[in-house]
Amino acid sequence: MIGRLNHVAIAVPDLEAASAQYANALGAKVGAPQDEPDHGVTVVFIELPNTKIELLYPLGDDSPINGFLEKNPSGGIHHVCYEVDDILAARDHLQETGARVLGSGEPKIGAHGKPVLFLHPKDFNGCLVELEQV
Ligand code: CO
Repeated sequence: MIGRLNHVAIAVPDLEAASAQYANALGAKVGAPQDEPDHGVTVVFIELPNTKIELLYPLGDDSPINGFLEKNPSGGIHHVCYEVDDILAARDHLQETGARVLGSGEPKIGAHGKPVLFLHPKDFNGCLVELEQV
């Protein structure tokens, strides 16, 4: 059911420093910061030949990234995003297998303007999973 790895998201305590490190030390193609108020994050996308890295930084006091950075002050891998062809069919199938979908269970529009859902990390070996319909 899942397709390509769309991105790996890394929560960072300093977005400017992390962006500069990927651009300069790692020589990656780093995009401009984008505010995502619906998700409480500012994101920077980094294009790799086979996937993307999404740097996540809190936007607002109730950002879901605040708690993550409190537990992981130097940052850390926050989620992985897999592509699916049909997000509602994927959701229904996952729920039949007992996996929990976060929030209302209805897809939200993600950072790429496409529908996304998140799956409970406790159901996926401690890893928060994002599904994106492509
Ligand atoms: Co993501």
